[in-house]
Amino acid sequence: MDYVKEDTPMLILDDFYQTLKLPPDKVVELDLGCGNGRFSEEAAARFPERLFLAADIMMGRIRRCDNRARRGKLKNMITIRAEARLLTGALLPEASLNRIHILCPDPWPKDRHRHHRLICSKFIGRLHGLLKENGEFHFSSDDQPYLEIVTRLVENSGLFRRDDSRMAEIADIKTDFERRWLNKGKTVTHCLWVKQPYRFSGEGH
Ligand SMILES: C[S@@+](CC[C@H](N)C(=O)[O-])C[C@H]1O[C@@H](n2cnc3c(N)ncnc32)[C@H](O)[C@@H]1O
Repeated sequence: MDYVKEDTPMLILDDFYQTLKLPPDKVVELDLGCGNGRFSEEAAARFPERLFLAADIMMGRIRRCDNRARRGKLKNMITIRAEARLLTGALLPEASLNRIHILCPDPWPKDRHRHHRLICSKFIGRLHGLLKENGEFHFSSDDQPYLEIVTRLVENSGLFRRDDSRMAEIADIKTDFERRWLNKGKTVTHCLWVKQPYRFSGEGH
């Protein structure tokens, strides 16, 4: 497969089992569960030298995302229809991303639905593997219990260190869901964690 590059059309990766080739010389950011793509659109317009991958499972949302990229003539925003676990587990290369955004994901608050939640300790290990050295994981949620669960998982993993100061350049960009929650008077909290080198402690072996 050729490198994914600027001007790549929408990618539909339902039955795709090769690793995508990402340009090694570019800053690449992934907006996972991008919804209608407002965040990627605004970020891609702000940072034209970076490549933004906006990925979602829902075709209707990905189409709207693609329309936004075309309307804005944003050649550096690529929309991808793919399931998050397949995309992160098989389709994206190791150490290929500078930043991963997971913004206002569905919190699945009921305990019996918790298996639907995207973020678990295994998934955090996967995000760590996908990030380049000093890469960043940006997460937001309006759901306090989910925020606490994710914070605990990330921070107990030992794979990341928190540094919210690195979000300053994008702090004003609000996704559609964030706008919705803010309009309802809710608070949306953002966290940013920086990848730390993996150290095998050998404990328990
Ligand atoms: C609550 S919406 C948030 C959308 C956007 N990030 C925002 O803040 O406006 C969650 C999004 O994640 C997508 N999603 C949920 N599970 C997914 C999965 N397993 N793979 C890819 N996308 C998923 C949904 O289709 C939806 O667009």
